[in-house]
Amino acid sequence: MKLLEERILKDGQVLGENILKVDSFLTHQVDYQLMKEIGKVFADHFKNAGITKVVTIEASGIAPAIYVAESLGLPMVFAKKAKNITMTEGILTAEVYSFTKQVTSQVSIASKFISQDDKVLIIDDFLANGQAAKGLIEIITQAGAKVAAVGIVVEKSFQDGRELLEKEGVNVVSLARLAAFENGQVVFTQADI
Ligand code: G4P
Repeated sequence: MKLLEERILKDGQVLGENILKVDSFLTHQVDYQLMKEIGKVFADHFKNAGITKVVTIEASGIAPAIYVAESLGLPMVFAKKAKNITMTEGILTAEVYSFTKQVTSQVSIASKFISQDDKVLIIDDFLANGQAAKGLIEIITQAGAKVAAVGIVVEKSFQDGRELLEKEGVNVVSLARLAAFENGQVVFTQADI
């Protein structure tokens, strides 16, 4: 997605070896006009895929996911990272290990929000090692639903998330794919759409 790549080049900051800071438009402050375009691009790509629901994980997946859901005219559900006192019945959970934070956390979705008739499009802001997406796939599978694809805003293609998901037979569709960071600059490889 050209508009996204241009924005990453303009406002993204490379931190250290492998982190791209995009807090001015995606992970902290959110540019809703860009999110709206992201929503349209994913929706156009998946409009004939029979998707019934968009699923993401809090926090930074929510902004792109809500615009994808709006564009497709479908509900959006986000997995929670902390149990909430109102989550009293039927909860589906998965363990997610973060290599970045080196902690395992339990993520959950109330079972009433995913049924075996659902065909789910997973949306997330970043794909690094693929652990968050893997946890979401586990939860969706527990519900007896199907995963249509994983849609990613920024994929760090030099990490092994895509490989892990594709090995499990999951289709990964990324709007921007970072091949490397060279001298503090982002180098892209061909994005999926
Ligand atoms: P994984 O889910 O692909 O395995 O990723 P990993 O454990 O490495 O990443 C943990 C968190 O760090 C995730 O957010 C992920 O989106 C984020 N992250 C990974 N690489 C980058 C990067 O280069 N830049 C930025 N900005 N974020 C990155 P999270 O902890 O779930 O945070 P949040 O969504 O609640 O903000």
